[in-house]
Amino acid sequence: MYLLSIGDVVGEPGLRMVEKHLNALRREHHVDLCVVNGENADLMGIRPEQAERLFAAGADVVTLGNHTWHRKDIIRLIGDHPYLLRPANFPSQNPGRGHCVFETSRGVRVGVISLVGRCLMDFHPDNPFPVIDRLLPTMDADLFAVDIHAEATSEKGALAYHLDGRVQALFGTHTHVQTADERVFPAGLGFISDLGMTGPAQSVLGVRSDISVASFLGAVPQRYEVASGPSKLEGALFDIDEKTKRCRSVSRVALAE
Ligand SMILES: [Fe+2]
Repeated sequence: MYLLSIGDVVGEPGLRMVEKHLNALRREHHVDLCVVNGENADLMGIRPEQAERLFAAGADVVTLGNHTWHRKDIIRLIGDHPYLLRPANFPSQNPGRGHCVFETSRGVRVGVISLVGRCLMDFHPDNPFPVIDRLLPTMDADLFAVDIHAEATSEKGALAYHLDGRVQALFGTHTHVQTADERVFPAGLGFISDLGMTGPAQSVLGVRSDISVASFLGAVPQRYEVASGPSKLEGALFDIDEKTKRCRSVSRVALAE
């Protein structure tokens, strides 16, 4: 089974990259399941029509992160949509869900779980480690894929060791910088610390560089805006053997305009 995961889609440039390239990528790599992190589709958060665009462009599951509730109208969609996931370790009173089981066209049931990390996050989600320990046995799936939306590579790496043997694909999101540490763990978990970003290439994490520089120089805080110019698409492809329940290989995906 081939799982394609796409890193954080930022703004209109990111949405356009997904619309332009995802179907061709799916065909080229015989993708059975595509998971897209969409929490920056509106830079901070995502609007319902932007989530619908990601699904229409070929995303099977859309995961979110710390900015999930920045655009409140997503609450309208998240309650009804089975494949739009907010982190599972958000408070249980929050609307929506943090996991789903997606059945591929070849009948493989893949459990997908969205988690958010705790290191350097300015709010207090539940501890993702015991949350996923409780969740996995309740899900009726053949294989498992997890998006850990987190800042620290240490937290993501520790989660990889914790889940090796129980999960086949663990990919990090949130930093918007693609890491070069993709590998398969001893018990068959495919891992990459961060998928990278889908959005404007000449930017600071998708934001206009002049605004970011001014902020670091000490200017009065100014509203962030999505950068313009050529875009890129980043992610990773996991080749998973559904019989042995082991990932065979992980490879980075990167396209640039
Ligand atoms: Fe994030």
